[in-house]
Amino acid sequence: MSEDNRKPTTTDAGIPVASDEYSLTVGPNGPIVLHDHYLIEQMAQFNRERIPERQPHAKGSGAFGRFEVTEDVSRYTRAAVFQPGTKTEVLMRFSTVAGERGSPDTWRDPRGFSIKFYTTEGNYDMVGNNTPVFFIRDPMKFQHFIRSQKRRADNNLRDHDMQWDFWTLSPESAHQVAWLMGDRGIPKTWRHMNGYSSHAYMWVNAEGEKFWVKYHFKTDQGIECLTQEEADRLAGEDGDYHMRDLYTAIERGEHPSWTLYMQIMPFKDAETYRINPFDLTKVWPHDDYPLIKVGTLTLDTNPVDNHAQIEQAAFEPNNLVPGIGLSPDKMLLGRVFSYADAHRHRLGVNYKQIPVNAPKSPVNSYSKDGAMQMHTVSDPVYAPNSKGGPQADGERYPDDATWESDGDMVRAAYTLRPDDDDFAQANALINQVMDEPARERLVNNVVGHLLGGVTEPVLERAFDYWRSIDADIGERIVQGVRAKQA
Ligand code: NDP
Ligand code: HEM
Repeated sequence: MSEDNRKPTTTDAGIPVASDEYSLTVGPNGPIVLHDHYLIEQMAQFNRERIPERQPHAKGSGAFGRFEVTEDVSRYTRAAVFQPGTKTEVLMRFSTVAGERGSPDTWRDPRGFSIKFYTTEGNYDMVGNNTPVFFIRDPMKFQHFIRSQKRRADNNLRDHDMQWDFWTLSPESAHQVAWLMGDRGIPKTWRHMNGYSSHAYMWVNAEGEKFWVKYHFKTDQGIECLTQEEADRLAGEDGDYHMRDLYTAIERGEHPSWTLYMQIMPFKDAETYRINPFDLTKVWPHDDYPLIKVGTLTLDTNPVDNHAQIEQAAFEPNNLVPGIGLSPDKMLLGRVFSYADAHRHRLGVNYKQIPVNAPKSPVNSYSKDGAMQMHTVSDPVYAPNSKGGPQADGERYPDDATWESDGDMVRAAYTLRPDDDDFAQANALINQVMDEPARERLVNNVVGHLLGGVTEPVLERAFDYWRSIDADIGERIVQGVRAKQA
């Protein structure tokens, strides 16, 4: 814009202001007057610029793009977003879990992989990670788990002793910890990692037939990872390395993409499958449930205002659309409460009206009022009514993504199946998927982590934990730690 065409600065009420540089004072050397409303507005607005950061997943960024269905999976789901040829606008956000908003992108941690699909039947959110499993299987432990990864009460430091204390007292974490300590625990960039729903969800087709499904977004850029040494160096040189990479790649016209594949389990299989299919600490081996291609997700547009479009984005696993439902995964059921509650606290009760969270399909809800209400509500404000208000259509939109459940109320892990074992899949990862150089890096990563402040008796428990995953790897870790302690 030429110097002559610049717009005049105004207050937030649109009133032109006299100066961007000088406050109103009594004479050139005198005191500032309280009625310089523009100065006061600038100070007050500035003081309120920061909103609470996300409790977990505080550091991250994202971009906009589209999802295009290239195959026909209509026999598995009637969801509009997954019908053949459908293109849907999306917002994605990537993140680390434990670090605060200013923390380095290259810390070893799972990465968030959140997608908001702006579908014709409302917003569908797939709030996943770059890992197919998780550390725990009951939402009761989630808060404790996150606290163990964050900071101590006394010195406000992150603490490996605290992390291994929690992990070794939670053997169900072994699979996720083995994954995290391996190469994929530090992706080279967000573009070079896969994304997973991790949980099982339900798909329901037009005939009401149900399937259990898991989502796998495989990177089209190829998997690339950082070594611990590279990551440590980058954490010092450029804490925003991943954020910068995504933004500049899109700016250069290099639009990252992922191919979506599904694992699809017939509804009845879940009753007899050798592994509890809803336990979030387990994968469904590909030999049992092969990947079925669905379509392509591409990111091509950077945010204009990171705060408005990314920081204020609210992803929530409860945003499900007709044809997609939950599963008996207890973690997933816990998440259905947690996210919307976090958003009401972080962004305010009417957070779904913030443009980035607002659906691109009509909203005909009975919600009204509250802080920052942007909609003009019209009567009638209640249902049922005979005054022409919206009316639920259970015929067209049946609540059929359900399953049978009966039994005494108990506090328990899932009923054990023949192959339910906390260590077996971690062992398969190490021995069947990793090669020897990858195993060597895993051992070195664990040794380095344990030497970063893990004390007895937690250290001895960590050795037992790794021996339970694999006797040989366990011994190599013990030797590695003892050699450096000597
Ligand atoms: P497969 O041999 O069919 O699949 C192995 C999987 O491991 C692939 O998805 C591959 O991802 C991924 N992988 C490759 N290298 C690593 C690594 N260093 N760290 C983490 N993941 C890696 O085996 P199964 O399905 O029988 O599973 C065997 C083990 O593989 C599991 O116990 C689990 O730990 C791991 N795994 C399994 C997944 C699943 O959904 N079944 C998904 C991811 C991991 P890619 O093809 O993208 O390279
Ligand atoms: C963020 C809770 C498990 C992926 C969050 C937030 C909360 C939360 C409160 C912050 C939300 C916000 O302020 O916007 C929980 C609970 C869990 C759980 C209670 C288990 C009981 C998981 C799992 C995954 C996951 C298993 C992945 C499969 C994410 C992601 C974000 C996030 C990606 C960041 C969302 C964004 O980009 O804005 N979680 N979480 N969480 N969680 Fe979870």
